[in-house]
Amino acid sequence: MSRFTVAGLTKTYGSNVVVDQLDLEVEEGEFLVLLGPSGCGKTTTLRCLAGLETPQGGSITFKDHVVFDGRTRTNVPPHKRNIGMVFQSYALWPHMTVRNNIRYPLKVRGRKQALADGAVEAAAEMVDCGALLDRYPSQLSGGQQQRVAVARGLVAQPDLVLFDEPLSNLDARLRDQVRTQIHQLHQRLGFTAVFVTHDQAEAFALGDRLAIMKSGRIEQYDAPERVFENPVSEYVAAFIGMANRLELRRDHDGWRTSAGDAIDLTHALVRDSADRGSAAVARLRPEDVMLHASAEEAPLGNVVLRAELVTYEYGGRYFDVTVATGTEQLLLRADATAHGPALRNSRPGAPVVVSFSPASLRIFPTSGDSVPVVPVVAPVSVGGHP
Ligand SMILES: Nc1ncnc2c1ncn2[C@@H]1O[C@H](COP(=O)(O)OP(=O)(O)OP(=O)(O)O)[C@@H](O)[C@H]1O
Ligand SMILES: [Mg+2]
Repeated sequence: MSRFTVAGLTKTYGSNVVVDQLDLEVEEGEFLVLLGPSGCGKTTTLRCLAGLETPQGGSITFKDHVVFDGRTRTNVPPHKRNIGMVFQSYALWPHMTVRNNIRYPLKVRGRKQALADGAVEAAAEMVDCGALLDRYPSQLSGGQQQRVAVARGLVAQPDLVLFDEPLSNLDARLRDQVRTQIHQLHQRLGFTAVFVTHDQAEAFALGDRLAIMKSGRIEQYDAPERVFENPVSEYVAAFIGMANRLELRRDHDGWRTSAGDAIDLTHALVRDSADRGSAAVARLRPEDVMLHASAEEAPLGNVVLRAELVTYEYGGRYFDVTVATGTEQLLLRADATAHGPALRNSRPGAPVVVSFSPASLRIFPTSGDSVPVVPVVAPVSVGGHP
């Protein structure tokens, strides 16, 4: 049975519905990532779980223990919910040493035994901060402060650990380090976590499951591999890196792009029959688009498009290239050794050829289409949680 259940959770500020009948189930030991754009209600959802906000309706159950129920007016206060929290801004108490910051959750819970058993020192060691116990937060780097915050969030072995974008204030290198450390700690300790982010790489790296949020609701709730392969909507596809968007329309002889190029969807993941719609949107990842010197170079079976170079950016082993085709622009990643010299010698507007496998397309209905095309899911096998 699920250990943490959120059902029909609703939170409004005035007429603004911020969390909208939200359902979530988190298994014990699971690392759930809540992913969504700014303002979609991620922090508000976490604050409701923590008891820092009072929802207007719905219920929240921790390990068979109802902590909130709008109908029965049950509302367990935050300090009785046994949760750990790690925030975006480190939120360490500036007037307390690292030791006292980490021991605070044990103190408020009256865990004298854990204090005597060296739980504070062990938690500091766990995040490589054992040598910093007598310092104050102002004497720590950002990465150290955030690691101390992680130790404080875990020290009392809470039922549930809530992370609200804990890595977003760190520079790129530190972000990777602390992310790996959180991942290792989760593998070792097996705590249950809800981790909020708007960074898709972070979500894929950490999540046992991902919940993609849109306007206070969960749009897709699934294993990372399934979200990656089978985004349920164009919104999810765009959010998880399918940055390229092609508008397609159906002619008497098949589908065409806005530039008029024929595009064979036989092998795309779409059920395509005459009674389906006449317009659709295709999404695909920049990594799935190839750049060619000529159309003959494109692999057999690929969709080949003639395009114009817009711009390119050097990225070390690769160039990030933008090309224009019809009314749309496509992003692609080109190998620097194979394409660097030619790109460096090209001006904006130069003709280029791009191609992609139809299997890399994900097709979605256009919003105004009354008889939409129906996406078919790719088979994906994943282990772990269902
Ligand atoms: N105390 C409040 N009073 C009124 N509106 C609020 C309050 N807190 C949040 N909101 C609004 O609720 C919406 C969701 O806010 P929330 O902080 O949950 O978003 P978020 O998904 O965490 O975004 P971000 O990625 O920017 O942190 C926003 O439109 C915000 O302006
Ligand atoms: Mg937030």
